[in-house]
Amino acid sequence: MRVPLLDLKLQYAPLKAEILAAIEQVTDSQQLVLGPQVDALEAAIEAYTGAGHAIGVSSGTDAQLVLLMALGIGPGDAVITSPYTFFATAGCVQRLGARIVFADIDPLTFNICPTALKNALSQTPNVKAIIPVHLFGCCADMEAIQVLATQYGVPVLEDAAQALGCAHPLGSAGAIAQAGWYSFYPTKNLGAFGDAGMVTCRDADLAAKIRQLRNHGMEPRYYHNVVGGNFRLDAIQAAVLNLKLPHLDSWGQGRRERAAQYRDGFVSEGLDGILGLPTEPWAQSGVPNHHIYNQFIIRAPHRDALRSFLTQADIGSEIYYPLPLHLQECFKHLGYRAGDFPEAELAAQKTLALPIFPELKEHQVEYVVNRISEFYKIGGLAGKNRAQ
Ligand SMILES: Cc1ncc(COP(=O)(O)O)c(C=O)c1O
Repeated sequence: MRVPLLDLKLQYAPLKAEILAAIEQVTDSQQLVLGPQVDALEAAIEAYTGAGHAIGVSSGTDAQLVLLMALGIGPGDAVITSPYTFFATAGCVQRLGARIVFADIDPLTFNICPTALKNALSQTPNVKAIIPVHLFGCCADMEAIQVLATQYGVPVLEDAAQALGCAHPLGSAGAIAQAGWYSFYPTKNLGAFGDAGMVTCRDADLAAKIRQLRNHGMEPRYYHNVVGGNFRLDAIQAAVLNLKLPHLDSWGQGRRERAAQYRDGFVSEGLDGILGLPTEPWAQSGVPNHHIYNQFIIRAPHRDALRSFLTQADIGSEIYYPLPLHLQECFKHLGYRAGDFPEAELAAQKTLALPIFPELKEHQVEYVVNRISEFYKIGGLAGKNRAQ
């Protein structure tokens, strides 16, 4: 049996006729950049998330970049974020000449640890933003983060690239704090047919500024009082996303069901003492969609050997992320060293992403669980309660 990490063809097949018709409408209209499809997507995301303003842009990365530009973040400023995230989160800060300051993660949620954030805030001058990342589809501890942000008078910008549709007791991911962003990269829970992204914010003036910067700072036509960029969203991407958005909640439900099946399977195989299974920190709050499982991440002893074993068994897996950002070559100048963020470093060494997508079949999940069980039985680890 083959179990891919993700198979987007299975999502596309039942929607193909509708999607091609929507694309044809755009091509017939020849309104190819921004326009009514993008306006409709922005309105739909505002309604879906409760965000005050949503501005469609060319990618999740560009969403962050244009937001930081609109906030005037640059040389002399510091921005605090997690060292255990996709590169873009820190890359955008560096591109604008601001200083990245990392704070370690919570080992259970993989999201920024409020205590580490507090330490970073107390030691860093000129902090202009805190960027929690809602990694893998589960929100960071926004309540604690907001308390610290208020105390230090610093805005919170949510990297919700992986978390559209994820709920937290304080609101919808990406629409809780002053501003945030989503990625519609094809592998995200709501994926475009290429790159696309969205900025969200509460403040109308900030939204207007982002709209201006999205189009080279132009306002009115061919007059520029600020320098922006080309961060415009294509109409074809917006048309595809408009069509897919109504399915997002049922796809999320499918992901959660697969996650529950993994969890039950690992428990019944006696692997819950060996593997670290994903935690659901906001489950008690009763909010639905408190984890939307953009990824199903386990902590696995002998991770690299397990991964090779799974590859042999035709099971896809991935390591998100093998090297924490503070140890990346391009951030060497920040002066961080191995050992500075032990939880992020441990997560990078131990975590493994397993196949998860709504169309994944029950017997495929069972196959993955059985192969993992076999791996630990061969190694004599199963049932011995070794979490490392
Ligand atoms: C946490 C995080 N931040 C930012 C991004 C950047 O989004 P995009 O790929 O749309 O530029 C991603 C996408 O992979 C992400 O996972």
